[in-house]
Amino acid sequence: MRIIILGPPGVGKGSEAEILVEQFNIPHISTGHIFRELFQQDSPLGKIAHEYIDRGELVPDDITNQIVRHRLSQPDAQNGFLFDGYPRSIPQAIALDQFLEEKGWQLDAVINIHADDELIVKRIGGRRICENCGRIYHIVNNPPKVENICDTCGGRLIQRDDDNEETVSKRLEIYHRQTEPVIDYYEQSGRVIHADGSQTIEKTNQDIMKALGEHH
Ligand code: AP5
Ligand code: MG
Repeated sequence: MRIIILGPPGVGKGSEAEILVEQFNIPHISTGHIFRELFQQDSPLGKIAHEYIDRGELVPDDITNQIVRHRLSQPDAQNGFLFDGYPRSIPQAIALDQFLEEKGWQLDAVINIHADDELIVKRIGGRRICENCGRIYHIVNNPPKVENICDTCGGRLIQRDDDNEETVSKRLEIYHRQTEPVIDYYEQSGRVIHADGSQTIEKTNQDIMKALGEHH
């Protein structure tokens, strides 16, 4: 399966992706996660990306596309993948079309998860992520078994640097301006599944799985 998940910040792309990649046994490719890892590793590219992320802006398309091209060349991506948070601009969508064409691959599904901005702000406020493996939690909706400790790897849970009020409103603004047009881009070829992200994580997953079944 080759899947893209689109949607505003905090709507649950990462949470749904974590489940779907298990269901389909494909790698989870989150450009945001890759940038955060590069920054933690002190890589020069990670430092550049961090400046944009900190301001709530998109990392430039050429950097992002380069990272994705490299990730798609890895052995585990040859039989399928799930993109979470890529493409999020029209130039990225065009670049991805070109990568796919070079490989002779086609997308199986584009999933757009939606919810209103008010709900999103609440979700981001309670989010915690594992500083080691990146697993996503919420202090109320999806807490770890032991407070502040990751169920999967025992890592410490932290808040993301870009999860403050000011940066979140900037991320939402950028989403509406630069990423929403990507939905129309895929809509033109009739490939978009719309999922209601205001439900529980499990219910949204059920809706997505049902739509994927009907899709085939
Ligand atoms: P990225 O890491 O992709 O962040 P984002 O798009 O802003 O999305 P989030 O990760 O904040 O939210 P999510 O939809 O994954 O929600 P989650 O599942 O965590 O990107 C970060 C930055 O990197 C960008 O701002 C940009 O600067 C840069 N970047 C990344 N990709 C780029 C690209 N392609 N081009 C350029 N720049 C790029 O859920 C949120 C919270 O809600 C969690 O606490 C979760 O537990 C909870 N929750 C989720 N679903 C539910 C539910 N159904 N019910 C109750 N709670 C829920
Ligand atoms: Mg995410």
